[in-house]
Amino acid sequence: MTKQRVLSGMRPTGKLHLGHLVGALQNWVELQAKYDSYHCIVDWHALTTNYADTSEIVANGLDNAADWIGSGLDPEKSTFFVQSLVPEHAELYLLFQMVTPISWLERVPTYKEQMEQLSDRDLSSIGFLGYPLLQAADIVIYDAHWVPVGEDQVPHVELTREVVRRFNNLYFRSDSSAAGSSALVEPQALLTPTPRLPGLDNRKMSKSYNNTIDLSDDTKTVQNKVRQMYTDPKRVRADIPGTVEGNPVFMYHDAFNPNVAEVNDLKERYRTGKVGDVEVKTKLAVAINAMLDPIRERRAQALARPNYLRDVLIEGSQKARVVAQATMARVRDAVKLTY
Ligand code: TRP
Repeated sequence: MTKQRVLSGMRPTGKLHLGHLVGALQNWVELQAKYDSYHCIVDWHALTTNYADTSEIVANGLDNAADWIGSGLDPEKSTFFVQSLVPEHAELYLLFQMVTPISWLERVPTYKEQMEQLSDRDLSSIGFLGYPLLQAADIVIYDAHWVPVGEDQVPHVELTREVVRRFNNLYFRSDSSAAGSSALVEPQALLTPTPRLPGLDNRKMSKSYNNTIDLSDDTKTVQNKVRQMYTDPKRVRADIPGTVEGNPVFMYHDAFNPNVAEVNDLKERYRTGKVGDVEVKTKLAVAINAMLDPIRERRAQALARPNYLRDVLIEGSQKARVVAQATMARVRDAVKLTY
């Protein structure tokens, strides 16, 4: 039986952090055995918000690929590739633009949210409005059945489904499409039940807030960052009972400390004012560092091999391109633009 395809994308806008690990990468690693997995560095998507400074995009993409390997993704099992190295994405995106009402894009929740959040930039471009439609093309061009995403991306997958339905209706109706040519696949979100981890300062985790632990952080950096983590602000002394629920230090313990007995003991003593913050945080840093060690190791090995990551991405892109070109042949045929 052929495996169904999973397609995921990541914008190469900076270093990857623990949020990426629990929110995406760990899930991708699990999926790679069961599905034909495609993982795309969506560099054009990075341009939608970072068009004014493109100097870091390629380096970020290579660094992200190192973190993918560090986290356990295996380029022998999954296909790693770069969006701009498969220009057919742009062609499908263009055809999708013809059939997509502007209002569908204006009502995607991330559109207004991002505009407000990134108010320092001029995001009045067509490219930014079209972000989810380019994403739709990324997915559909591989006939992907599944898109592993978090809650926030579900509207983008929904939009993709609407666009596919409209496109199929227009061009792939059985009476009009070329014999044997199958319609585009309507993908589904593969929701990952992931713990929502706050940033170190208890705000939303985001590199722009400078409140992340990065997968590339060394041991000392992790220790320092954990030491400065936000915790129960009412607990000014170790003998005052503290609150565990919603406390980022304990949320991180739950996410990264596999020693459940230790975590439960710390929680109990925290609630009853019998443990100092230093002990709780020291043990957390130890757990995070133990979890990151094998990731650092694999990451370092990948980075140490000259041209290795570049080659992985280029070879993966060549493979992806074959699939994308086959889809575009089918699409051009359906749109009746064959000469
Ligand atoms: N919009 C996604 C994000 O911000 C990135 C993305 C682009 C993507 N193309 C995709 C995700 C295709 C899944 C499939 O996380």
